[in-house]
Amino acid sequence: MEQHIPDHVPAELVVDLDIYDLPDDEADAHQAWQQFRGHGPLVWSPHNGGHWVAVDGKDIVAMWRDPATYSSWAVGLPDHGMNRQIPIETDPPEHAEYRANIARFFTPAEVNRLEPEIRALAVRLIEGFRERGECEFIGEFAEQLPLIVFLTLMGLPLEDRIPLHAMVEAFARHPDLKVKQDAYMGLRDYLDGWIEKRIAEPGDDVISFIATATIGGRPYTRDEMLSTCTLALLGGLDTVASSLGFWALHLARHPEQRAAIRQSGQGTLLQIINEFLRRFPIPNLSRVVTRDMVHRGVQMKKGDRILLSPSLHNLDPELYPDPFTVDFARSPRHITFGAGPHMCAGANLARSEFKIFLEEWLTRITEFRVKPGTTPVMKAAPTNTVEELWLVWP
Ligand code: HEM
Repeated sequence: MEQHIPDHVPAELVVDLDIYDLPDDEADAHQAWQQFRGHGPLVWSPHNGGHWVAVDGKDIVAMWRDPATYSSWAVGLPDHGMNRQIPIETDPPEHAEYRANIARFFTPAEVNRLEPEIRALAVRLIEGFRERGECEFIGEFAEQLPLIVFLTLMGLPLEDRIPLHAMVEAFARHPDLKVKQDAYMGLRDYLDGWIEKRIAEPGDDVISFIATATIGGRPYTRDEMLSTCTLALLGGLDTVASSLGFWALHLARHPEQRAAIRQSGQGTLLQIINEFLRRFPIPNLSRVVTRDMVHRGVQMKKGDRILLSPSLHNLDPELYPDPFTVDFARSPRHITFGAGPHMCAGANLARSEFKIFLEEWLTRITEFRVKPGTTPVMKAAPTNTVEELWLVWP
């Protein structure tokens, strides 16, 4: 694989780790990220076009909050090199209006309105396999829930979920840039057809609203409509599904914590959700350095890419003692949803899906464990995930 090491990067800061191929990630994806530690606060990965990795938790959050120095112009590695995703790949000041146009669908009031439907869906999925005494959790539950919620929000047919899921998966985790680009264009083509339909015949769904949205007093271009709808799809599916995979695997191995969750009140449940979010971060996004500068003695140049990984921040022992232990007594300030102006616009919806999962699953399937003879498979990548998880119960 081609390696990129510019002249201003000192050899001692180069760490030969590829974020799509971290050693031993299948056994523990989050542990795999910690291999970047131990070489200083900034290291350089020569893979995926070459990029810095910020290692120190305090630095990561400060950089995330400083869009003037660390631009969101390209948040993925390698850069997909195509139309920017909106609002995630825009910077202040234009970012705020783009964001407001999509964030309105995920306010607490909107999410409360959706909750009965999400709960009914979760119950239907669980009851569909409960009697069987086993399921492949990722395919049968974790991926289904957010996908169906998203399609409902967007007013899209549920039968499209299989091809859509395949394209989201390829864009999120495939290391080959061409495969990523094809998946991205496939998603845009799919959504383009629906934008056309909604312009002709508007409904009360997200696509219909985005098709009439404005920025700076002018209507969105077709490209802006597409970039916004594509991001809503990419942002909301894989992240929730991947989180559910990690949480279910942890709960399958910790019956005492299942019992504690069942006994917790609403306030404690939110704290528990927060601790799960801290312990199992999902997206690992990057920024573009906007000027030549020296950070903690290291020269960075304008245009350098830098990875700001919650998998390094949330599991930094300087910030969280014993960071790999899930401890419901913590009230952590994690950055699984990011920090600064781009902080996740869909966080209320995600939290609601998690709450419903914990409430409905743990009361319907109380005693479950990893199916003997199977091994859960994790993957560390720009979006960490659990690829396969068989569960059994009596
Ligand atoms: C566990 C679930 C989720 C996680 C961990 C997550 C994580 C994140 C993170 C880290 C960012 C910040 C990106 C950056 O700063 O570059 C972000 C932004 C965003 N997320 Fe989420 N997300 C989740 C669920 C969702 C859902 C359910 C939706 C809605 C469908 C959503 C929509 C968005 C949008 C639109 C943005 C862009 C916000 C902006 O640029 O201002 N996310 N998310």
